Amino acid sequence: MKNREIEVEFSIKSGAPEKQRTACIVVGVFEGRQLSGAAEDIDRASGGYLGGILRGGDMEGRAGATLLLHGVPDILAERVLLVGLGKAREFSEKGYREAVAAAVKTLRDGGAMDAVITLTELTVNQRTLAWGIEQAVVAAHGALYRFDSMKSKREDTRRPLKRLVFTVAGRGDLKTADAALARGRAIAHGIDLAKDLGNTPSNVCTPDYLAAEAKKLAKAYGFGCQVLDRAACEKLGMGSFVSVGKGSDKPPCFIVLKHNGGNKGDKPVVLVGKAITFDAGGISLKPPAEMDEMNYDMSGGGAVLGAFRAIGELGLPLNVIGLVPACENLPDAHANKPGDIVTSMSGQTIEILNTDAEGRLILCDALTYAERFEPDAVVDLATLTGACVIALGAHPSALYANHDPLAQEIERAADHAWDRVWRMPLWDDYQEQLKSSLADMANIGGRPAGSITAACFLSRFARNYHWAHLDIAGTAYKGGREKSSTGRPVALLVHFLLRRAAKAS
Ligand code: BES
Ligand code: MN
Ligand code: ZN
Repeated sequence: MKNREIEVEFSIKSGAPEKQRTACIVVGVFEGRQLSGAAEDIDRASGGYLGGILRGGDMEGRAGATLLLHGVPDILAERVLLVGLGKAREFSEKGYREAVAAAVKTLRDGGAMDAVITLTELTVNQRTLAWGIEQAVVAAHGALYRFDSMKSKREDTRRPLKRLVFTVAGRGDLKTADAALARGRAIAHGIDLAKDLGNTPSNVCTPDYLAAEAKKLAKAYGFGCQVLDRAACEKLGMGSFVSVGKGSDKPPCFIVLKHNGGNKGDKPVVLVGKAITFDAGGISLKPPAEMDEMNYDMSGGGAVLGAFRAIGELGLPLNVIGLVPACENLPDAHANKPGDIVTSMSGQTIEILNTDAEGRLILCDALTYAERFEPDAVVDLATLTGACVIALGAHPSALYANHDPLAQEIERAADHAWDRVWRMPLWDDYQEQLKSSLADMANIGGRPAGSITAACFLSRFARNYHWAHLDIAGTAYKGGREKSSTGRPVALLVHFLLRRAAKAS
């Protein structure tokens, strides 16, 4: 069953709030009942109607609060939605995105078919208008996301909300805002795909399924696409990658996507995403608690496919390659066993001391495969270690890089996309932990610094190019009751590529 996307149409407009002919106009209120500019305009036009409501105590302006008003006099909108913004002095990127999301969720559950949102006229720290529009589109679209393709009954299928208009202060802003809107829409669609793939359970989302999704993308946007089967991977010498899938009866796939958007001959950016469609741990079996979350262990690969959707929609003028090694990590007669030694495509041998450290075993061969593209930069994404979640929690992805300018590029893109990262050390001192007496290296480095030693392992396969690694174990999905993919770090990747494309042309 296909997940049904709730497609709300977005557009940009300028003009006085009191003159907007719409089912609902959305305006902000800061804590202490302080009206935003647009709210003030409505207040003035309506003879102080909003001020009266606030004095009545129905809306304090606390972050996330909403209040829907009908029949506000002397304005053209049928309804006014007040959205709390919290303290004006503390208004942040997070608050802005949450305010937009709160407004859109209220609109979704209400009766308005369209709405004009003026929150985009607020300034957030030093951010530009374009930033605000793009973030509003991503936040609004994200608020409307749901995954119901696995439910037998779909709830409330007849939603009235069809159109959202974001306002800008003047006509001079329209062009910039329209471009930002298009960017936001493409990013939101990329995030949707990453979320759908993450949320699809592993009995449906198999390596084959991911390959079919990649082929669909290729067809829709004209990408090159190649899917290497087990035999082809064996022939290439990917002994490490192939060993991981052996404990499963679902055959592994190595997916290659190519977007030739840049100048012929320009070196490509290669994105590599870990796609373990289910990680039971293998013979080093995981404990049962929360094992269901290992359905999200393909999120790196999902983010690569999501980024490609955005790349395709934007017609990005850059050469980009996507590599997605996909397989399942299960215990079976053919599975890797602790102590087994495999030979990677690079020729380096690996002693598998723990079969649950499988992500690095599939990525290392993908990193070696990446060399054939003579990449300008390689960025890999992986739900690689539980240790990363312990170190950084759910807010930033861990960033590692063997090249400082590349790390800075990613940090800037992450900040701009509000898809944050935190740089971690990749010092040689940690490499010692990977010593093996029998092979060139072990696949685990002991308890201390688990996210770092995993990155150190990968660095041994990324010596021939500029490389960055994002450990997204804490950021790619939310666990627990509200279990869901977040679609991270698609927004970061798209910004990283957009900046490169702007420099290249
Ligand atoms: N996919 C897991 C990492 C993970 C754990 C992601 C929790 C998200 C949440 C990875 O394959 C794994 O099992 N890593 C081991 C490595 C260890 C055996 C060195 C881990 O983190 O426990
Ligand atoms: Mn594992
Ligand atoms: Zn894993």
